[in-house]
Parts: sequence; C-alpha cells; structure tokens
Amino acid sequence: MDNTTEGLAHTALNGIAPYFTMFPLSFPYAILKERAREGEWVLDPFCGRGTTNYAARLLGLPSVGIDSSPVAVALSEAKLVNTTPERVIRAAEEILEEVPVPAEVPEGEFWEWAFDTEVLAVVCRLREGLLANCRSHARKALRALLLGALHGPRGKTKRTYFSNQCQRTYAPKPNYAVTFWKRRDLRPEPVDVLGIIRERADRYFGGERTRGRGKILRGDSREEAVYRRFPAGASGAIRWVVTSPPYYGMNTYLPDQWLRLWFLGGAPEVAYGAEGQIRHSSPGEFAAQIRRVWMRVGQVCAPGAQLVFRFGGIRSRKADPLEIVRLSLEGTGWRLTELRPAGTADAGRRQALHIARTDRAKEETDVFARWEG
Ligand SMILES: C[S@@+](CC[C@H](N)C(=O)[O-])C[C@H]1O[C@@H](n2cnc3c(N)ncnc32)[C@H](O)[C@@H]1O
Repeated sequence: MDNTTEGLAHTALNGIAPYFTMFPLSFPYAILKERAREGEWVLDPFCGRGTTNYAARLLGLPSVGIDSSPVAVALSEAKLVNTTPERVIRAAEEILEEVPVPAEVPEGEFWEWAFDTEVLAVVCRLREGLLANCRSHARKALRALLLGALHGPRGKTKRTYFSNQCQRTYAPKPNYAVTFWKRRDLRPEPVDVLGIIRERADRYFGGERTRGRGKILRGDSREEAVYRRFPAGASGAIRWVVTSPPYYGMNTYLPDQWLRLWFLGGAPEVAYGAEGQIRHSSPGEFAAQIRRVWMRVGQVCAPGAQLVFRFGGIRSRKADPLEIVRLSLEGTGWRLTELRPAGTADAGRRQALHIARTDRAKEETDVFARWEG
C-alpha cells in the first residue's frame, strides 16, 4: 500500500491548526487512494480536525464528517472550503471594519499575561465578527486559520502566533501558565495580527488546487438526529468509513481546547464539560457506546461498505483495546475482516505521539470491517 502522501502537490491546508490525537494524512489517504472509486462517499463519524475529509478532497471524493466538539467542526469545515488567500484576508479586513471596537474583552490575570492588550482587542473583534456571521467559505477558512494562530510558541526570530509562549496543540491551564510567564518574566508582546493572517492565508490556501465537496456536521454520532442532516445523495451511499474513535481513557477533548472554545463563543475559562462526548467509565460501557456509533453508521452505508479505524488505548487505563474493538463490532452488521498493527510505518508521526504529555499511548491497531447488515 502506498503509505505516503509524497508526490502530492500541496497538502498544507491539512495543517491549518493542530488537534489532539489527529492521525497522519497518509492513513486515510493511502486507503482511499488504493481502493475508493470515483464519486464514492466517505464518512468520518469522529472527524476531529477533518483529516479523512481532507484526504477525500485530495482524491476528488465527496465526504461527510461528524464531531461533537465545536473546535473539531470548525477545523474540519475549513478542510472543505473553496476560497483564495485574497478572499480570506478581505474577510478579516471586512470584519475589522464591521466591528471597530470589541463589545467584550475577557479580563483577569491570565488574559493580561496571555495576550498583548492591543492584540487581544483585535482578536476579540475578529471573534465577534465571526460569531455574528461565519457563513461564507472565506469566513470559515479565516475562523480555522485564527484557531491555529491563537496560541503557540513565541518563536525566536518571528512571531507566528498571537499569544505569549504556549503549547500549540492544547490550551494552557491558566494558573500554571501565569506562574510560568511570571517566573520567567515573559511579558506578552505586540504582534501584527493582520500580517500573521496574510502569511497563513497564503500558506494554507495559496497552493490548494483541489475542490472540497461534502459537509461537516456538529453532532453526537451515537444519536440518530445527526444522520438525518446528511447532504443530498450521501445517506445510504456511504462506501468508506475511515475514522478513529476516542482512545479509551482519552477524554479531555473539550477542557484541553478551552481557549479555542472561547474563540468559538464559549466562556473565557476552562470548560470542564464533556457534552456529546463518548463516556469512558468502564471498558464495557465505552465499547457499548462505540457500538452504537457503528450501528448508526451502518444505516447510512451502501451494501459492502468498508469501515477502517485506528484504535488504541492509553497506558494509565487498564483495558485491552482489542477486546474493546471486538465488543464494539459484535452484532452490529459489521464483519471484522482484518486487524493490522499500525506499527511505526509513520515513525514519529503516529497518532499515539500526539496524545497527552503524561499518558503515553499503547500500541495502535488498524481495524478493517465490511458492512453486511
Ligand atoms: C481520536 S479523535 C479523531 C481525530 C481525527 N482522526 C483527526 O485526524 O483529527 C476523536 C474525536 O471524536 C470526537 N467525539 C467524541 N465523542 C463523540 C461523539 N459522541 N460524537 C461525535 N464525536 C465525538 C472528539 O471530539 C474527537 O474530535
């Protein structure tokens, strides 16, 4: 199997913003490139940052993505937009004209240390403009681009993020971050927000020659409601389901993204909720919920559809991931056809390596099943 995306002219858009536990683009791309035929629909019911949707786009295939996290939905939507750097920059300028002063700026020590005052005001204006209207492709592209630029390392020579020194993949815990900045006397510095937008718009949208087709849906993939919102032609026609459910024990998707969630309209503080997320109380309960997803997914699939998913666990939870896989497929209409260790084919880029700093991931497996429902 062609296990790389080498030879592809441009895949920059996939990196518009990092996401926890994203899988490498080569995983869905290689499967779809080798086996999918023209016009076949692709689905990812836990789409995260939309890696599968982007792989489908690169191959000219229409796709649907589902995720219950607003951050995941915003990032995935950007993987399907058709726009240009000029339009994205124009969208930012338009918003800054529409919102000359922010209605609301979060206050407190964290915010004073996290962003320069002027930078925070511009970020708030962009946030308010996008919350009021994020309908066009250019605005959706801008929103994801801003989520990717919101927090990250300061960089030695050039500023490419809006924040003070931070991780880029997950948001800082406020108390910890303030102590860190104070100890090192790291004060937030002014950055050129529009300049960063221009550069990122060029990087992510400048060379993109493919067209996005399909839809990203915000919803709970265990529940029927979200499947009723499928785009015309997709329901009953899904041929490929390429996904990775949350790993057992990995349940901090929302709190770890609290700053991006704030940008999308959430509260200016860590959100400890788990709304719409798979519960992780025991391996049996976890498997039962994934099972519900496989059953729902089967209902929108064409006969003979293929399900491929990458799965693992984290070391701090004692559970056998393969047992969870077997239980999750039992009696669903999906027949397990192959288990393949994910191995180290993508050394250094495996999903495991993107998992939380303290919880190392266990071995990962790629699971193949066929819809015989
Ligand atoms: C392992 S990540 C997927 C990462 C994705 N493969 C990528 O490359 O970005 C699992 C995703 O499942 C989502 N999720 C968890 N429970 C869900 C549910 N009940 N319905 C829909 N999405 C859910 C999480 O928000 C998270 O984005």
